[in-house]
Amino acid sequence: MNHVLGIDIGGTGIKAAPVDVTTGRLLAERAKVATPRPATPAAVEAVLRQLISDFAWSGPLGITFPGVVIDGTIRTAANLHPDWIGVSVADLLNDVTAGKQVAVINDADAAGLAEMRFGAGTGERGVVLMLTLGTGIGSALFYDGILVPNTEFGHIELDGEDAERRASERAREEQDLSWGKWAGRVDAYLDKMEQLLSPQLIIIGGGISRKSDKFLPRLTTLRARVLPAALHNDAGIVGGAMAAHDQTAALG
Ligand code: BGC
Repeated sequence: MNHVLGIDIGGTGIKAAPVDVTTGRLLAERAKVATPRPATPAAVEAVLRQLISDFAWSGPLGITFPGVVIDGTIRTAANLHPDWIGVSVADLLNDVTAGKQVAVINDADAAGLAEMRFGAGTGERGVVLMLTLGTGIGSALFYDGILVPNTEFGHIELDGEDAERRASERAREEQDLSWGKWAGRVDAYLDKMEQLLSPQLIIIGGGISRKSDKFLPRLTTLRARVLPAALHNDAGIVGGAMAAHDQTAALG
């Protein structure tokens, strides 16, 4: 029961790997498939089925989704097709998931769980904010290690726009921003988050965490410490798997 297939559904790619949830390590090389466009439930479901079959997986599943997830049902889908709203991911896959433990959790919440247990937030008390800068901006808020789910701080207003349209990795790429210009926007965003939440630690995740030398030194000082995610882009896979395992543990 300590081995869970983690599947991280992102706006750009869908990644999967079996995870040992006691160590946070991937048990095999991760697979990555481009997110189909349009990212309708049927198109994404086909990819999920393919990944489950490629890993010949019959154990528990932890799936992340880039939107609000309440009791396994998708409630928002800013960067995927709006047909997702109201869909239960476990129901979509019910023939392959019947009798198995399946958890579905917001992608940034999953990444945060993984960083708090195995990465940059290990042992941190008080308020910790994880932000993933990718196709969108995801957020996960912790107090004394306990997650407040579905915070959606990527959608606060920043300079008249949705924050993720200004400070995500996609905004940097699509608007062809220099690192300096983009770092200025990230700086304004972190400043605002600090004003609102006074975290003691901010963890920056997503693929961009591998390039933290390009922008972390350009940020102005906050009261909060700012660290790159230690698990980089694998945090979602690991945290998704942890969610399935924790659910099992909670159910006894
Ligand atoms: C979604 C969040 C998600 C984030 C990162 C945002 O657009 O609203 O739920 O965590 O993107 O994927």
